[in-house]
Amino acid sequence: TFKELVFSGVQPTGNLHLGNYLGAIKRFVTMQDTHECIYCVVDMHAITMPQNPHDLNRQIREVTAAFLAAGIDPKRHIVFNQSQVSEHAELAWVFNCVARLGWLNRMTQFKDKAGKDRENASVGLYAYPNLMAADILVYRATHVPVGEDQKQHLELTRDVAQKFNNDWADSIAEHGFGDAFFPLTEPLIAGPATRVMSLRDGSKKMSKSDPSDYSRINLTDDADMIAQKIRKAKTDAEPLPSETEGLRARPEADNLVAIYAALTDVSPAEVLRDHGGSQFSGFKSALVDVAVTRLAPIADEMRRLMADPGHIDAVLADGSGRARVIAAETMNAVKDILGF
Ligand code: ADP
Ligand code: NA
Repeated sequence: TFKELVFSGVQPTGNLHLGNYLGAIKRFVTMQDTHECIYCVVDMHAITMPQNPHDLNRQIREVTAAFLAAGIDPKRHIVFNQSQVSEHAELAWVFNCVARLGWLNRMTQFKDKAGKDRENASVGLYAYPNLMAADILVYRATHVPVGEDQKQHLELTRDVAQKFNNDWADSIAEHGFGDAFFPLTEPLIAGPATRVMSLRDGSKKMSKSDPSDYSRINLTDDADMIAQKIRKAKTDAEPLPSETEGLRARPEADNLVAIYAALTDVSPAEVLRDHGGSQFSGFKSALVDVAVTRLAPIADEMRRLMADPGHIDAVLADGSGRARVIAAETMNAVKDILGF
């Protein structure tokens, strides 16, 4: 049996957006009252794609600032960046030798990110899910709160854990770890806005890599920018329905209602109880108010934190030290189990 421990990671690659906030960071904040949590800026994942070192360095601090500004307490929990704890990479190598090529061949994110020129994708981009499995399992985390897009990677993490537990079952028992060394980590994907869609196209997820600035609300957008983007958001011509069934086949309407619901901590049905029958012009004004009220204080706090990089670096150094203690313990056990 494993005590409940949550691992959460965000890549420092470009602007954090509303999808990252509602799908990930906002959930991370809620979990800190009920679980022991580890919050990680996964900078080693970032270099699976080309990165400018200066931008990467600033974005590592920016994701950290977003964690803190959203309300994560780095004294009660661990906040750090992945590259500072080398056990992540060490365990990822072991998992490269556990996971099967066929498993990685099925990963849809690799296909999306590698695009047509697959021969030129980095080996790291291909093996990315094994590093993610290592991020989680080096702390033997039991839960990971993520958006829908990460579900397939979590399944792979469970497959890796299961195969490791099976392949080394005798050695695991011999070393006193019972019948399972790694837990089968559960994804926590629930509530509205587990998949926030682009504001310009209801069939695409809101993403850092979308070339259209108006497709996403960035966490650092000011009130004017948030208002402009919501007013320009694509909609259809019908008023809002009064029941959630009426949102089916209306992806843009469904998305704006889900965003409103997630930002105000109510269900989409409750949003429609209040706003059913409204035209989008009116509903969008209400959504602007809600978004500005919830996001502007986070943006302000992020700006304040970014003005003091020394403080952010100190938080990361402290967190890395605490993370390393747990990770080293796991890695030492793994080495014993493998026979190193
Ligand atoms: P991106 O997908 O924009 O590159 P990351 O891969 O760093 O961002 O994801 C960070 C976290 O944000 C993950 O937990 C992911 O599931 C979540 N996330 C990313 N995009 C969305 C979205 N559009 N809706 C909901 N959650 C999302
Ligand atoms: Na993602």
